[in-house]
Amino acid sequence: MWGGRFDAGPDPEMFALTASIEVDIALLGADAAATKAHARVLEKAGLLTADEVTAVDGALDELVAQWRAATLFPAPGDEDVHSLVERTLTESLGETGRKIHAGRSRNDLIATDVRLYSKDAAAALGDAVRGLIGALADRAEAHTETVMPGFTHVQPAQPVSVGFHLAAHGFAFARDLSRIERAGEAADVNVLGAGALAGTTLPLDATIATKELGFASMFDNAMDAVADRDFVCDLLYATSLLGVHLSRLAEEIVLWASPAFRFARVPDQWSTGSSMMPQKRNPDMAELIRGRAAPAIGDLNSMLVLLKGLPLAYDRDMQEDKELLFRSVERALGCVQGMTAMIGGLTFDEARLAAASEDGAMWATDLAEILVSRGVPFREAHETVGRLVASLEKSGAPIDEELLLAAHTSFERGDLAATRPAQGMMARTSHGGTAPERVREQVKELRSRVAG
Ligand code: ARG
Repeated sequence: MWGGRFDAGPDPEMFALTASIEVDIALLGADAAATKAHARVLEKAGLLTADEVTAVDGALDELVAQWRAATLFPAPGDEDVHSLVERTLTESLGETGRKIHAGRSRNDLIATDVRLYSKDAAAALGDAVRGLIGALADRAEAHTETVMPGFTHVQPAQPVSVGFHLAAHGFAFARDLSRIERAGEAADVNVLGAGALAGTTLPLDATIATKELGFASMFDNAMDAVADRDFVCDLLYATSLLGVHLSRLAEEIVLWASPAFRFARVPDQWSTGSSMMPQKRNPDMAELIRGRAAPAIGDLNSMLVLLKGLPLAYDRDMQEDKELLFRSVERALGCVQGMTAMIGGLTFDEARLAAASEDGAMWATDLAEILVSRGVPFREAHETVGRLVASLEKSGAPIDEELLLAAHTSFERGDLAATRPAQGMMARTSHGGTAPERVREQVKELRSRVAG
């Protein structure tokens, strides 16, 4: 690609260390599309004939077909996907192939290719996350009346429904969905036409490539266009936070599946056994999803560190972005799909959840709020119920009506019903609360977010 300037070719060792073909061959489809678009830009400028453009299209279609059929093998001198495309065009079309790189650079080309990849990746991730939110919404809807302990500090706090808890995770993924969509929008800017960094003296019209490639808009400044990888950072941040949310849900599945909790059972197909201990039923998939948030966060960090301190415009460091991006997208897709399957197959032990909801005096806030509704200041109510909980803990006795009536003159016969976990769950009808009608609204909202 640059033989004229040099007396000697690249050292094989340097070539091996700098070549990126193994990674960026994945961009072949994008590079072919960008090259077709550039051919049209050159045609409009009178630098290629209509016949030459047709020939370029045919050669590129053939190349992409070979790649899809896994019959394309890079030649030893192919440094990256761009040099492979130019070489093959030149081999099949001669002079026409030698004209194709006029007015463009690998710098604007790679940024264009990565933007095309990122748009597709955001769309695929968005679809996967929609599937996960849908699975959570379905399970939430089926469990609006299944009571379970709600925790803070992993201490029993207030009774909730399984549906409410699953919907809570659903809203985190709904935010991931909009972050992924915004990352896709950030990528949706054409930069083909920026050249190496400063544009071109040739009469090229970048709007043609913008339209041909289906980008929503076009770069403003050529130097920024080749230097900007914000959209990669945006996507890596979106996959990192998605990874964090998946990890928090995975951690809960690990806890719920433990015999110490016995809240839920992971389906056989998504559980693993032990090579030594015959009784084991391990939630390895959930643990791996939890674990894979670590490299997701690491890849975002690597990308940010890669960019910091890079002078404008293009620097070769930027070549390292692709491996991070591709593996982060693949990892996120796999984790979302695995989680969707696990959520769909999770079974809840309703009897066990009901029994666990009796522990930890989760009715305490409810009793305090009964006193408040009768005019007792909240602090007095809090202290009264706190003393009642402490005395029950000492005596080991369960709460009963006489104890309740003795605790405060404002308690009345019938108030004991408020200590039933299901009652406590049903009574939280405030906005966004755990009462079944509120959770049904939340499920509806989740579905509308998925529908967009
Ligand atoms: N392979 C490079 C990358 O992935 C693009 C080539 C630009 N290289 C250059 N020396 N100008 O970023």
